[in-house]
Amino acid sequence: SFGFANSSSLWEESTLNKVIGANELRVCFEAGYMPFEMKAKNGDYMGFDIDIAKLLAKSMGVKHTPVNTAWDGIIPALLTNKCDILIGGMTITSQRNLKVNFADSYIVVGQSLLIKPSLTGTIKSYKDLNDPKYTIAAKLGTTGEISAKKLIPKATIRLFESEAEGALEVANGNADALVYDFPSNAIFSSQNKGRVVHLDEAFTYEPLGWAIRKGDPDFLNYLNTFLRQIKGDGTYERIYNKWFKD
Ligand code: ARG
Repeated sequence: SFGFANSSSLWEESTLNKVIGANELRVCFEAGYMPFEMKAKNGDYMGFDIDIAKLLAKSMGVKHTPVNTAWDGIIPALLTNKCDILIGGMTITSQRNLKVNFADSYIVVGQSLLIKPSLTGTIKSYKDLNDPKYTIAAKLGTTGEISAKKLIPKATIRLFESEAEGALEVANGNADALVYDFPSNAIFSSQNKGRVVHLDEAFTYEPLGWAIRKGDPDFLNYLNTFLRQIKGDGTYERIYNKWFKD
């Protein structure tokens, strides 16, 4: 034999094999991002991503283990092997791609605005918020934070640990707007009619993707095969309609 081929320092077994060996797929996400991952009253996790994760585990013939993880520590959790994959509405960005690998995008969203109802007519796009007199809420470590800082640099930006806190800040009149992912804003506004207004036009391009540790072509290929299959055979559409059509 060549001797070096299986030397652990040179050859790392695919997560694909480890998952099958362990008989479980540990999936990182952060609950609270509607309709992708939410915590039900009985403690169960539910949402578009959760259904996809369950199906992915099933396709591998293993148990699905949800790992709810704070957003600002979610990439470190993946990198330190707290989970096998991150299925959590993460936008594929070049910066994140320096740390993790992404499977092909499974859905495309963008940033939109929730504004104070009193600003209706005054604020027609994010450009109208680019003034120091406006206070904008965003969730720490998200593309909402990045977009707000980049596209609305003159406004005062306040960061929150959760999307719910940021949205409530607008609903309570303490912030003028929230910059966050369109689907989450759409649901929050429909649940808080009269307290916030959704400007329902996305102003960034954000493909979301599942993240895995680098250097694992076998697992990456498996994920893209799985995604292609569910997109083609109607499974994806069924799950999508369950969470995105009312
Ligand atoms: N798509 C946004 C991002 O990647 C927000 C995702 C937030 N997800 C969550 N589970 N809280 O930054």
